[in-house]
Formats: sequence, structure tokens, C-alpha cells
Amino acid sequence: MDMLTFSLDSDSSISLYEQLYFHIRQAIVDDTLKTGAKLPSKRKLCQFLDVSQTTVELAYAQLLAEGYIESVPRKGFYVLPQEELYVHRSDRKIEPIPLKKTYDFDLSPSQIDTTAFPFERWKRHMKQVIDETNHELLALGSVQGDFALRQEIATYLYHSRGVQCSPEQIVIGSGTEQLLPQILDLLSHATTYGIEDPGYPLTRQLFHQQSRSYVPIPVDENGVCVDELELHGVDALYVTPAHQFPTGNVLSVSRRQRLLNWALSNETYIIEDDYDSEFRYSGKPIPSLQSIDPNERVIYLSTFSKSLMPSLRIGYMVLPTPLINRYRERYLHFTCSVPRFEQHTLATFMASGDFEKHLNRMRKIYRRKLEIVLSNFRVYEPMIIVTGASAGLHVVLSVNASQSVKQLKQAAEDSNLFIRSMSDYQITNKMSSSQFLFGFAHLPEHTIPHIIERLMQAWGISGNTT
Ligand SMILES: Cc1ncc(COP(=O)(O)O)c(C=O)c1O
Repeated sequence: MDMLTFSLDSDSSISLYEQLYFHIRQAIVDDTLKTGAKLPSKRKLCQFLDVSQTTVELAYAQLLAEGYIESVPRKGFYVLPQEELYVHRSDRKIEPIPLKKTYDFDLSPSQIDTTAFPFERWKRHMKQVIDETNHELLALGSVQGDFALRQEIATYLYHSRGVQCSPEQIVIGSGTEQLLPQILDLLSHATTYGIEDPGYPLTRQLFHQQSRSYVPIPVDENGVCVDELELHGVDALYVTPAHQFPTGNVLSVSRRQRLLNWALSNETYIIEDDYDSEFRYSGKPIPSLQSIDPNERVIYLSTFSKSLMPSLRIGYMVLPTPLINRYRERYLHFTCSVPRFEQHTLATFMASGDFEKHLNRMRKIYRRKLEIVLSNFRVYEPMIIVTGASAGLHVVLSVNASQSVKQLKQAAEDSNLFIRSMSDYQITNKMSSSQFLFGFAHLPEHTIPHIIERLMQAWGISGNTT
């Protein structure tokens, strides 16, 4: 074979052997060096290019490792055949994510009061955890989450929600959106799920994405209509019993019992999403379904997204015994999606009593805001009726106006206010009722009266001053 005439630049930041490797590789790809061609011996090439033999050796070794050439003993190096790579040019462009339109006030219900977060306390716990004596936290922990946090959650659940479970039954994950698919994975893929209508949109999206069949089950003032489960041939139900999202209704005692009996007689499961039970302002605490179920038919699911912060991405589920065994079989080789430092920071935050203090403080703050919301809407009765105010971080407004839901929504937007309508959460009967969700948690107290006034002006509703 002829010599390989490449010019190598000894001043380049790229090493000589890499330059030589790139040149030969390109010649093979371009077919300048044909399949079966013999490369010059290392000795001859290094003399010809005036480089060290090591440079040529390293370049040949790299080409050899990547399968561009082969070494035939006592003969030399030969170019190997290369599969032609067809290039298909696509003119599909990746569009930038559109910027969300901003408003003076976004009244959607997903927000919390971020101004009252106890940064100093959280920092103190985090500092205590991020310590070189804790080097074992650099290694992988349990797939279910670390025992210290599971133990704190078990104690907390027992005292606050009557949930009876051992830390062994708890699985920690990055929120409902990450845990719910795991639940679906544990149950038969042929399960038909009942989901609340109106309901939490993410659930529906997840069921859809995971190709699980689901049936919308209507919700009324007593929560989800349990009688409809048999009617629709539902095998398992996702439900928010303590504070139905988004109506704010509570699942009545008789329906709870019927639901548990239904699950027992059908040998199926109820997925109880107890997402914001910490914030209850009136009436007796609503027990969790799990706490009144003696037959292990409830999968309890909850989150720190409302009680602490949505960005923490920590949620948990309590699995009945048969499912925890299945979970361990299926997820044995997986890892927990929540970083261990965050898990331990939260565990010490809870163990120290700071979580309880934070909840008490937030309950007061939210209750005060709710009272301002209620008193300011009261003057617009009966044009505006507020419901769902006994718990949670939003209320429901029933609007007695002649405009359509679409017109009311647009009118609010024209006044620089974003508001979600009930129809945004409905699967069937969309736009049938003029109801809106008023999220108040994140609004500074002093702004609430002005926002309500602005919204009422936008909707052409005047106050009752008598
Ligand atoms: C019904 C319901 N479940 C769960 C959550 C929280 O989900 P995550 O834990 O994924 O933040 C929310 C938050 O808005 C919710 O409305």
C-alpha cells in the first residue's frame, strides 16, 4: 500500500495520535481507503510521518478497538468492511416550549403559600444531614425509601390520619405522578379503573398513557357515586375521599362503607389519594378510608406537595400486605427516585417537631385567607355561591350569570386574571355548570379583596350592599 499522506499539526491541542486516528477513520468512511486495503506497517508510517512509533500504535489500536481495521498475524493491518450509514435528513424542527402567558393573578388551585416556608429550619436540618460523617448516604438506599423517613411517615399517618401501617408497607417516590404508575403496574393490566368525574387531570392522563382502561364515575355533593361502579363494570377505583378534587366534597360515611364492601366482595382495590388532608378548617377531621378498612383493600397515597412544597417531589404510598410482597418482587433491582439527603432532611424535619409546627402555622395562614375569601364573596350572594370551603387550598364558585363558561373565563383573562373552570376537570358533561375554582393559598392576604372585586367587575356582578 502507498503511504498515508496526512498532515499532522504538532501545535494542535488534539494529540498527534488522535489526529492520525481521525484521518484514517475518515478515509475509511469516505471509502478512500477501501475494504481489504493494507495499512502501512507501524514502523514505516512513523518514519514517513516523522512521528513516534507510539503515536501510530495508539492510532491503530483505537481503529482496531472500534472495528475499522483488523490485525492479521504476521501480515499487518487491513481495512474492514463498513456498513453504509444512510442519512435521512429530516426537516422536523424542535419547537421551543411556548412561554406560559402570565397574568396579574393566576387563581388556579395548584399553588401554595411560598412566603411562609421555614427556610432557616429546613437549612439547619439539611446541614445536619449533609455531613461527612454521613458518607453512607452517598450509597444507594432502599428502593422503598430510607427506613428513617418511612418510620416518621408511619408515625405521622397514624396520629394525623389514623392510618395503620408499618414502615415496611410504605414506599417513597417522587410524588403521585411517579407512584401511581407503580400501583397500576402492581395490579392486573386488564383492570378497568373508575376515576372521578370531575377529577384530577393527571390521573386520567396517567391511565391513558399507561394504556389502562378507565371509566369516568360522576361525583355529587356526597363524593363519588359509588352505586355507579357496578353499573360500569369497574374493577378498581381511584378516589379522593377526604376532599374530592376539584369539587371539595367529602365522601359520605354511608358511601365509604359501601365502597369498602364493594372492594371486599369484588376482591379489588381502592386507590385513596389523600393529597391535602392536612388543611381542614371546619367540622370533625375526616378519617382516611384506609383507617376504617379492616380488610386491606385500600392503597393509601399521599404527598408533601401541599403540606411542604411541590418542588420537593416527595410522595408516598402505603401498600396492603399482598401488594408490598408483589412490589418487592417487581422492584427488587430498582432504586428509590428521591435523593437520600432529601429523605433524611425531611425525616429529621419531621422527628424534630418542625413539620408539625409548620403545619399548624400554615393552617392558621390558610384559614385566615379563606375567611377573607368567604367574607368578600358573601356580598355577591346569590350571584356567587361558594362551596368546598371546609378544607384544602381552593374553593368552588357557582356563578349565577347569563354568560357562558367560556365567556366568563375570557372576561377574567381580559382583566388579567387566570381562573380555571370546573369544566377543565370534567370528562363528560363539559361546560354544563358555571363553576370555577378559586385557589387562594398563594395570594397575599391584602390582595384578595381587590382580586375578588376585579373578578366580579369582569363578570358584571355587583355586590349586595344591604
Ligand atoms: C388530587 C391530587 N393528587 C395529588 C396531587 C399532588 O401530586 P404530586 O405528589 O405528584 O405533586 C395533587 C396536586 O395538586 C392533587 O390535586
